[in-house]
Amino acid sequence: MKVLVTGGCGFIASHVVDAYVNEGYEVVIVDNLSTGKMENKNKRAKFYKVDICDEEVEKVFKVEKPEIVNHHAAQISVPLSVQEPLLDAEINIKGTLRLLGLSKDNGIKQFIFSSTGGAIYGEATKVPTDEEYPPVPASPYAISKFSSERYIQYYHSQFGLDYTILRYSNVFGPRQIPHGEAGVVAIFTEKLLAGQQPTLNHFPEERKGMVRDYCYVKDVARASINASKSKKVGIFNIGTGTGTYTIDLYTEVIRALRSKGKTIPNRFDKPKRDMARPGDIKVSTLDASKAKKELKWQPNYDLHEGLVETVDWYINL
Ligand SMILES: NC(=O)c1ccc[n+]([C@@H]2O[C@H](COP(=O)([O-])OP(=O)(O)OC[C@H]3O[C@@H](n4cnc5c(N)ncnc54)[C@H](O)[C@@H]3O)[C@@H](O)[C@H]2O)c1
Repeated sequence: MKVLVTGGCGFIASHVVDAYVNEGYEVVIVDNLSTGKMENKNKRAKFYKVDICDEEVEKVFKVEKPEIVNHHAAQISVPLSVQEPLLDAEINIKGTLRLLGLSKDNGIKQFIFSSTGGAIYGEATKVPTDEEYPPVPASPYAISKFSSERYIQYYHSQFGLDYTILRYSNVFGPRQIPHGEAGVVAIFTEKLLAGQQPTLNHFPEERKGMVRDYCYVKDVARASINASKSKKVGIFNIGTGTGTYTIDLYTEVIRALRSKGKTIPNRFDKPKRDMARPGDIKVSTLDASKAKKELKWQPNYDLHEGLVETVDWYINL
């Protein structure tokens, strides 16, 4: 079975590629390396340095004839989407539409899409939030992801293109870049290792920071495998259901670093403070019961286990 993974040199999708390769899939990567890195590329995957917004991507479909498209390439910064909504839409909406058209024309059997449970529900009144909750996207990034979901469902109902939409919570792990949708673990770890005091962003009324559902990237990558094997059509939250305040995450990162023998000065036990950024929401956790039932997916790592593996990777960079 051949799968085309877009964004396969980036943080999450490079783990998705690794998981597919380990499961015996043939993998083709399309990535423009805007944020992705060649060192993330799995040696057994074929690579095309192509932009998903470029007509050239059609050649990859024609030459490679994949059966599954797993679409992870995106503009992933919420603040950048606020500053440049047009750029965000160009990549996230138009890029996705191009891939959908090519998938329809080239007989793709399943279109897997990485959406965002962390941003799409907005400031939900029900947490953990399930897939039935009506999305109230609160940033251009969340709007572009939600629009893509709607186009995917249109291509399904109109042209019979089967899809699986995975709405991720806040993903963390090795290879994460600090300025993405949920880069806080990468930011804290890189700063602490560089001997600098990290900053905690918070709303004025909640000094503990935001509440987020942190899910380890290897668990997240497994969701694509389960989606490919089960071929389930639908929308699935992928998260742990557990909420963690930013300050508690901060303490856990320091604990993980110290458990690996790193000296973190006591004066860093408390972070610097700054205001929440545009597009930030206060509380976000996901109910992934549907993925557990239908995709047979559930997280294997708890936060501490995931953080220990993550900081180990940053230490050995
Ligand atoms: N990080 C999270 O917590 C999180 C949460 C929910 C959803 N997601 C989604 O998961 C996906 C991967 O996110 P990530 O955190 O790994 O980000 P990332 O920036 O590490 O990966 C994105 C990859 O896509 C590539 N890319 C970007 N624009 C491209 C284009 N126009 N053409 C070809 N390649 C392009 C980049 O070079 C990079 O390799 C994104 O779709 C993102 O929206 C991430």
